[in-house]
Amino acid sequence: MSDTARRMDAIYARQRHFYDLTRKYYLLGRDRLIARLDVPNGGTVLEVGCGTGRNLIAVARRYPTARLYGLDISEEMLATAREKVAAAGLSGRILLKQADASDFDAQALFGAATFDRVFFSYTLSMIPDWQAALRQGAAVTGGALLLVDFGQFEGLPGWFGRGMKAWLAKFDVTPRAELFDALRQLGGPQVEASRLYGDYARAAELRR
Ligand SMILES: C[S@@+](CC[C@H](N)C(=O)[O-])C[C@H]1O[C@@H](n2cnc3c(N)ncnc32)[C@H](O)[C@@H]1O
Repeated sequence: MSDTARRMDAIYARQRHFYDLTRKYYLLGRDRLIARLDVPNGGTVLEVGCGTGRNLIAVARRYPTARLYGLDISEEMLATAREKVAAAGLSGRILLKQADASDFDAQALFGAATFDRVFFSYTLSMIPDWQAALRQGAAVTGGALLLVDFGQFEGLPGWFGRGMKAWLAKFDVTPRAELFDALRQLGGPQVEASRLYGDYARAAELRR
């Protein structure tokens, strides 16, 4: 097991049990991303860093013909994801695998080289080599890549932004100031970028 996997398992071993309840209030913009996925009929969707499976279940319900794939480095999170997916009756449509987002082989994991939609939701802020993860995500994107993550809190009071960054750091979360630039390097002018809620969150889309 890699150091990153061990660290994520340590963070999430207990948190996974109340993760969805608490994150509802501060992982903002996730449902906006799901609404904007606009999955084609019968299309495939990969979530990189799928955590408890909360997003994949919502995607499956919103796009009933989609086939879904999720990967996460933490077996602890995947255990919760598998339970939730089974409880939702979606095990036949959602395939979950353990892998490192910065170095994975989609063909070997899922039997597919590309996906119609690929998304990252509050994951790049936790991955040490997040640029590599973004490159990997872009490489397996057949149609569109969407992401949402913490912003730099630039439209909010300074004390709030400083407090948030200090608090997030305790959970190994680093908001990526260069998120938009990194995606533009991969997608050029096709990238659409938005700052949400006073730059609490940043969202971006690369459509091929
Ligand atoms: C804050 S959670 C977000 C989960 C989910 N995407 C959501 O929006 O609720 C971040 C997730 O990224 C996963 N993660 C962190 N580093 C990773 C890596 N290198 N490769 C794959 N997943 C990783 C963690 O295990 C965790 O499940």
